[in-house]
Amino acid sequence: MAAQPDVMDKLVSLCKRRGFIFQSSEIYGGAGSVWDYGPLGVELKRNIKDRWWNSMVRSRDDIEGLDAAILMHPKVWEASGHVSGFVDPLVDCKTCKGRFRADKLQDARCPQKPSKQPGQHDACQLTEARQFNLMFKTAMGPLEDSASIAYLRPETAQGIFVNFLNVQQSMRQKVPFGIAQIGKAFRNEITPGNFIFRTREFEQMEMQFFVEPGSDMEWFETWKEARLQWHLDLGLSRDRLNFHQHAGSELAHYARAAFDVEFDFGGTLGFQEIEGIHNRGDFDLTQHQQFSGKKLEYYDQLNNKRYIPYVIETSVGADRVTLAAMVNAYREEAVEGETEGRVVLGLHPSIAPIKVGVFPLTKKEGQPEFAKRVIGDLRSSFTVDYDESGSIGKRYRRQDEVGTPYCITVDGDSAGDDSVTVRDRDTLQQDRVNTSQLVGYLAQRLR
Ligand code: GAP
Repeated sequence: MAAQPDVMDKLVSLCKRRGFIFQSSEIYGGAGSVWDYGPLGVELKRNIKDRWWNSMVRSRDDIEGLDAAILMHPKVWEASGHVSGFVDPLVDCKTCKGRFRADKLQDARCPQKPSKQPGQHDACQLTEARQFNLMFKTAMGPLEDSASIAYLRPETAQGIFVNFLNVQQSMRQKVPFGIAQIGKAFRNEITPGNFIFRTREFEQMEMQFFVEPGSDMEWFETWKEARLQWHLDLGLSRDRLNFHQHAGSELAHYARAAFDVEFDFGGTLGFQEIEGIHNRGDFDLTQHQQFSGKKLEYYDQLNNKRYIPYVIETSVGADRVTLAAMVNAYREEAVEGETEGRVVLGLHPSIAPIKVGVFPLTKKEGQPEFAKRVIGDLRSSFTVDYDESGSIGKRYRRQDEVGTPYCITVDGDSAGDDSVTVRDRDTLQQDRVNTSQLVGYLAQRLR
């Protein structure tokens, strides 16, 4: 299989230039590996989250939504194993003051001699590895004593586990059923990087599916396939997606089985995890039952039995999928009859931040007013962008670059025949459409 091109640098530049993603606190020199989503980025990520929420929660009877708080009782993190076990081995270099993950030295570069990995350059002085907990610690209330310790959650999953019975009983759900949520998570990563791929603040979309022990492997397979299909439906290419099975020491202590969905980001980054699918057995509910002293058993009325359900977890990063969608969509094309090519973000129409660009051909003859009337008709159904500056070619290029699937041009004939030209981003085909048919025409192609 041919290696995918490295488009990351071009994408980072496009994201800043076109309002997708900015470095956090840029005017102060930037906060390391923290990113802000601009006007187009926030639309793109929201569209991805909406697709996930619709497929998980709104289109099903057996999954409920939840929005648990970021701050939780500190005992939650003792029960989950994060206080003792959510650690990475850290080494410092006394020469360059760099910090590296001891288990990932092969992926790092010596800042003083980038052709070598840390420890291989003569001047390197690496310390012994020490365990570094990735949770951000803070204090609840005005006193910073040990009684007020709180953590920024490193995963959203625990908010679901501690609410298992609340949701099950209030919604009268029967096992098997799931709970889904989207929310921020925080990890003090030793080596964040690759743009929004690995950051210290990120968003997760997690779903915990509670099943009867014994049926877990069957559900695990079902969710594995369903999750792959979701990524395909989002427009990610099949040849850029892969399953990676966790085996041996890779398998977390609580996991009975685990697969990553990997996406090929191209260049040296290559295939990397975008989602984890785990069979967590009864580990989490058992731990919370023990640490809280509250029974977390499910009562199966039909069979008159009690048990702690097993959990199949699907956990996907909203930022990683956003990056994958952009990398997957980025392409540069020659344009017939033109010297300058075009950059296209061939995003799936459902996640494109702007669905329709509307342009008057000239600023005269009442064309801007006509275009604004068209926008008035479209705005309640689609995100629309009006543009009257520069040549029509330039305006098309600007929309192609941000992934707008359709552009509408108002011209000298529009007032007479009440029609406009609609141009397709990918095929470049142009159709003449009556304005009364526009909403239907676009809806059919966009939904
Ligand atoms: N509850 C299970 C869990 O959190 P994980 O494999 O640690 O599992 C799940 O994380 C997903 O969260 C990953 O596949 C990735 O998409 C995203 N993720 C994890 N750490 C991240 C980071 N530092 N930056 C961006 N996304 C991250």
